[in-house]
Amino acid sequence: MEKKPRVFITRKIPDAAIRLLEESCDVELNPQDRVLEKKELLEKVKGKDAVLCLLTDIIDDEVFQSAGPQCKIFANYAVGYNNIDVEAATRRKIVITNTPGVLTDATADLAWALLFCVARRIVEADRFTKERKFRGWSPELFLGMEITGKTLGIIGAGRIGSNFARKSRGFSMNVLYYDIKRNFEIEKETGAEFVNFETLLKESDFISIHVPLLPETHHLIGEKEFSMMKKTAILINTSRGPVVDEKALVDALKKGKIWGAGLDVYENEPIIEPELLTLKNVVLLPHIGSATVETRTKMALMAAENILAFFRGEIPPNIVNPEVLSGSK
Ligand code: GLV
Ligand code: GLV
Repeated sequence: MEKKPRVFITRKIPDAAIRLLEESCDVELNPQDRVLEKKELLEKVKGKDAVLCLLTDIIDDEVFQSAGPQCKIFANYAVGYNNIDVEAATRRKIVITNTPGVLTDATADLAWALLFCVARRIVEADRFTKERKFRGWSPELFLGMEITGKTLGIIGAGRIGSNFARKSRGFSMNVLYYDIKRNFEIEKETGAEFVNFETLLKESDFISIHVPLLPETHHLIGEKEFSMMKKTAILINTSRGPVVDEKALVDALKKGKIWGAGLDVYENEPIIEPELLTLKNVVLLPHIGSATVETRTKMALMAAENILAFFRGEIPPNIVNPEVLSGSK
């Protein structure tokens, strides 16, 4: 009998996916529920035929080198794959896959949750109530920002950005979006208007970021951009931290250049700009955009299925560097 392919999973993911892989593979799981140190990762991938990795693993050429020439697929348990050196993978003819689509609703939902939390000051108000400070209804207690009827600005109208736009329909909003290319479908569905970046920054009441992290999107929002926003603007980021210059954000929040922000991601995760932790007008979450029972299970199964498809000799459905396989299949 042929030897089973050896798969390494860098950290515990939902069981269903581990069981699925175990049906036909020899699976090794990082026994600790923490991110592996680089040295440990290099050791663990050695001799494996596939690796199921997480967005917290830095997968660079050194990792590919250490895994060895038999290892031809790294399946990322995330839609964003900025943690992987895809160019190096492609050079070595290693397939990289991600988990698009299955986390779209969960992430767009969380962006809405953050927007409500910031606009209606829900976290502050909850803390106040639990601290037994509520003395009865009061005319100006926790005044927030009305959401209905406002102008929503979406940066990046891909799957998540357009899902976020679609979800605004119950709130009669005026939707603006900016992207490197037009999305006619979302324009038709929601009346969203394609505008240039500057117009979006100047005219939006709420700005939500849904771009991947690329060299071109690094610090897309910085001091200059904050100075163009309304003083009453709210910024939501559920994409990747480095898209926003975190120091410039602290400055904007402190000086009242904008009204508030809701963040699920940070520039140097898990480190957070210390001053952010002290500000009242920001709501901070620990990167839980896709964290629902349903979505995390689907992501895990999707990553596993990409690996299994590869071992069956098929093109994995969520390959991000298809040039590796074109021509050879
Ligand atoms: C989560 O951040 C993801 O990219 O899946
Ligand atoms: C990611 O799934 C996106 O296209 O927004």
